[in-house]
Amino acid sequence: MKRIMLFASGSGSNVENIAQYFEGDDRVEIRGVLCNNPGAGVVDRCKRLRLPLYCFNRPAYVEGEGILALLEGLNPDLIVLAGFLWKIPESIIAAFPDKIINIHPALLPKFGGKGMYGMHVHQAVINAGETESGITIHKVNEAYDQGSILLQKKISIEAGDTPEALAKKIHALEYAHYPPAIASLLFE
Ligand code: GRF
Repeated sequence: MKRIMLFASGSGSNVENIAQYFEGDDRVEIRGVLCNNPGAGVVDRCKRLRLPLYCFNRPAYVEGEGILALLEGLNPDLIVLAGFLWKIPESIIAAFPDKIINIHPALLPKFGGKGMYGMHVHQAVINAGETESGITIHKVNEAYDQGSILLQKKISIEAGDTPEALAKKIHALEYAHYPPAIASLLFE
């Protein structure tokens, strides 16, 4: 049995999609979802999906070793960031080397780094006049959005595409590719 932990800050549609993908697969257990925002949409999704949810505030995250101790106790084979906005503390990266992955809604190394999240990314891509965007699944290291790239998939941007339209296309790519990428990391 492989254990995964999910981290999310927002709506959690990727969390739901990943949970559905592995539902009924007795080789994989979602040990829980960590969330830094009790008002986030992911909280209701976890209740509905009966996923164990752990909410925390910034002091619990950055001071002391609370979250690290929790993770060590749950002992995941893979930590999956799915729209998680806070930087991962070095203590957690050191405790889970090569075991933390993220999905970014653009083609890194472009349009990454601090402040590049959610609609800001899609707006920046459109402002730059790009003709394509996509997703990047990558390992997480100490620098935002700079870990080694595992997978990229592209979509084209049509004239007149709004950030919302782009977000919709990107989410479709995420739903198609994130769960199988997780499975291949766990089993290959
Ligand atoms: C996704 O676009 C993901 O790439 C980014 O944050 C977004 C999360 O969306 N890191 P959701 O909360 O899973 O709907």
